[in-house]
Amino acid sequence: MYKINTNLFLSFFVADVISTVEFNQTGDLLATGDKGGRVVIFQRETESKGESEELGESGEYNVYSTFQSHEPDFDYLKSLEIEEKINKIRWLPQQNAAHFLLSTNDKTIKLWKVSERDKRPEGYNLKDEEGRIKDISTVTSLRVPVLKPTDLMVEVRPRRIFANGHTYHVNSISVNSDGETYLSADDLRINMWHLDITDRSFNIVDIKPANMEDLTEVITAAEFHPHHCQLFVYSSSKGTLRLCDMRESALCDKHSKIFEEPEDPGNRSFFSEIISSVSDVKFSHSGRYLLTRDYLTVKVWDLNMEKGPVETYQVHEYLRSKLCSLYENDCIFDKFECVWNSTDSVIMTGAYNSFFRMFDRETGRGVTLEAWRENSKPRAVLRTRRVYTGGRRRRGDVGVDSLDFTKKILHMAWHPAENIIAIAATNNLYIFQDRVNAENQ
Ligand SMILES: *[C@@H]1O[C@H](CO)[C@@H](O)[C@H](O)[C@H]1NC(C)=O
Ligand SMILES: *[C@@H]1O[C@H](CO)[C@@H](O)[C@H](O)[C@H]1NC(C)=O
Ligand SMILES: *[C@@H]1O[C@H](CO)[C@@H](O)[C@H](O)[C@H]1NC(C)=O
Repeated sequence: MYKINTNLFLSFFVADVISTVEFNQTGDLLATGDKGGRVVIFQRETESKGESEELGESGEYNVYSTFQSHEPDFDYLKSLEIEEKINKIRWLPQQNAAHFLLSTNDKTIKLWKVSERDKRPEGYNLKDEEGRIKDISTVTSLRVPVLKPTDLMVEVRPRRIFANGHTYHVNSISVNSDGETYLSADDLRINMWHLDITDRSFNIVDIKPANMEDLTEVITAAEFHPHHCQLFVYSSSKGTLRLCDMRESALCDKHSKIFEEPEDPGNRSFFSEIISSVSDVKFSHSGRYLLTRDYLTVKVWDLNMEKGPVETYQVHEYLRSKLCSLYENDCIFDKFECVWNSTDSVIMTGAYNSFFRMFDRETGRGVTLEAWRENSKPRAVLRTRRVYTGGRRRRGDVGVDSLDFTKKILHMAWHPAENIIAIAATNNLYIFQDRVNAENQ
């Protein structure tokens, strides 16, 4: 059975409900976005610094910078409020000392530059140390300004604002492996942008019907292939995945491949279409597989097999009998994300009651874990939980009727190289780290 040892366990309280979590490409930085439009960046302390082996001295994540990315806005044409909530954050591959990230709310994508400064110029000729312009008549000599060391400051500046590219709500952004372009997807269209050009984008997918009354399907997520810059995938509310190749045509309305699972007619119900909507799609690190999440399952698809998923894992099958009440309280529309571990051998996704699930692809077995401070002592093995669905009831089992549906784990990230996971549980960010070293064995 797959186990994660929480030798190091951290939790942070963020001012608002976390709406996205993302590691940078080496995993040393972690960014969260929240409902209030803020971005919080965490940085991992360098290991060398931890000469003391005290718990959490080294390798621990600490707050590095916090900034306001988006503000509430108003769409005057449609008389609609535009929420400041951050829908997605994506890091750009690092090219110089500074870090760059893209953040988006429903409409506007912003490119931020995060840089460090530990020196400041002093000894201006025309300004005093507070920056006030001096009376020129008092300036009698010329001096050369010098750089003086100061406390380390992290500066965050907006570098580009990609506005007016979307009429509908942006659900995804994805940086291309060419490092120069990225895509952004809303309910009906996908656009491709050059990172240096803010005033125009290319529309690469448009599924808007001529007559909006004919609308039967919306785009729910989109992502570029990790290695082939011409390939991208998008998922839909009908449970299909479309793989597109930009070499075939500029407008990819005609997909190269469509991945779809034939519906079991015996299972058709009022809720079939709602629960088959794909809420997230992720390429595996190898680029060979796709991982998707729908309301009750996570699925792994092989790019070479379109007729159905190669693996299906039940996340919380016991909710199938509760769909009616989950529809009434709108939970059925929750958008759970899914992630791969770095070797593509374990997948993870969220559930209710602060539970999240991990599935070992080799054995096909799954575990239910809980993101909850009181239950997790540092250095303890993260306790597995069980939902009671019949049979012999074990101590600690939770009944389906006692699940707390307000505690949902929607957003999460897996470190790109190590066994470290970041889980967003409403206002809390939990970081679980498996540090298998001799000392702890
Ligand atoms: C991720 O952040 C760390 C810490 O600042 C940095 O050293 C690393 O180069 C970054 N990686 C990439 C690929 O951006
Ligand atoms: C049909 O429903 C049963 C349980 O009700 C489930 O085990 C099975 O996976 C479902 N089939 C499909 C194709 O969803
Ligand atoms: C991914 O999961 C597998 C299976 O448990 C594990 O062996 C591997 O170390 C994991 N990869 C990382 C780096 O977390």
